[in-house]
Amino acid sequence: MDGRNAIEVRNMYKQFKVQYDKANTLKDKILFWNRENRKEVHKVLNNINLNIKKGESVALIGTNGSGKSTLLKLMTKIIFPTSGTIETNGKLTSLLELGAGFHPDFTGRENIYFNASIFGLTRKDIENRIDEIIEFSELGEFIDNPVRTYSSGMYMRLAFSVAINVDAEILLIDEILAVGDQHFQEKCFAKLKELRDSGKTIVIVSHSLDTVKKLCRRAVWIYKGEIRLDGDPTYVINQYLKQVAIDHKEEVKKAIEKGTHRATGIITIDTPKDFSDIDLQNDEFICSGWEISNSLDTEIEIFVDDKKIDNIDRYPRKDVYDIYKENYAGFLDVESIGWRFSLKSSDLPKGKHKIVVKTLTANGQSLASNDVEFTII
Ligand SMILES: Nc1ncnc2c1ncn2[C@@H]1O[C@H](COP(=O)(O)OP(=O)(O)OP(=O)(O)O)[C@@H](O)[C@H]1O
Ligand SMILES: [Mg+2]
Repeated sequence: MDGRNAIEVRNMYKQFKVQYDKANTLKDKILFWNRENRKEVHKVLNNINLNIKKGESVALIGTNGSGKSTLLKLMTKIIFPTSGTIETNGKLTSLLELGAGFHPDFTGRENIYFNASIFGLTRKDIENRIDEIIEFSELGEFIDNPVRTYSSGMYMRLAFSVAINVDAEILLIDEILAVGDQHFQEKCFAKLKELRDSGKTIVIVSHSLDTVKKLCRRAVWIYKGEIRLDGDPTYVINQYLKQVAIDHKEEVKKAIEKGTHRATGIITIDTPKDFSDIDLQNDEFICSGWEISNSLDTEIEIFVDDKKIDNIDRYPRKDVYDIYKENYAGFLDVESIGWRFSLKSSDLPKGKHKIVVKTLTANGQSLASNDVEFTII
């Protein structure tokens, strides 16, 4: 292996054998003795070649089921290639599935000892750092409770705090950051940046594409089990989103033909807030929100006190677009996600009012609806 590389993957294939209709009990075996067990080979990764240099920060991106976690597990060596090789050079730590490596009946503190020793720390090493680990986790007194009583966010805090404190040279992280709350996510993010800048090798799997852009200098896009593109994150993410858009539309077209398409949508009212009391100061009162769906021809309908509104203005909502651009790729036009309309104060006498908003398909099927009640005081 080249001394400059932290990870080398060569002509690597991974497939899983999946067995259907497996008889689990003796009774099933007797009843279905002549039934053929259907075995299928599921080719998950095909001919992967990849060099990750020491000190690189690399993101693996791709749709659900494209093989990202599988590749990370292969790097961790908890599973092995069907053919080809995968080699790593340097002490490695990984944050894979939540709680992997924790014993549910031990306390957080006991698990730190248990977990850190797996990563090669001596008892003395751990004793020197345990305060730092606990402090980073912000678990406070919960640290002495069994981890089976932890929430997923608490699990993740503990796992992350241990993983960054075992002096690993290579960190492999699978999506786990998404579990933390905003504050802890930001803290992890800052820590990962610090580790990156101190020369550690980081490989992260994430659907949070903005995080990828900020943290990684390289993105590898896995598409249908193969590396489709590898390079600057901004470019790779852009190409990835274009492909997702094409695939989404193709899937929807097929589903519509088969009659199995389930369109969905979200419609939200930002102002006024539900059950708010409003003291009208101006002549005009603006109501606004946003709407998205994965159907190609939708329209929105808005009623104020059962009266239909017809002067609805659509306007850009980049904030909403950024959140949904992956899941709704191919269906979002950033320019027209927002909706708003104005009412004259003369239309709004004192007392209770109700706004109902709906997303409808061209044939009148309702995809989403929302309503608010407010009082003019
Ligand atoms: N142990 C296994 N046995 C059989 N199939 C498996 C196994 N592990 C993964 N797979 C299959 O391999 C494919 C890739 O899974 P993987 O978890 O790597 O996807 P992913 O890219 O991480 O997706 P996600 O974004 O949803 O996390 C999936 O189709 C999955 O069903
Ligand atoms: Mg995964």
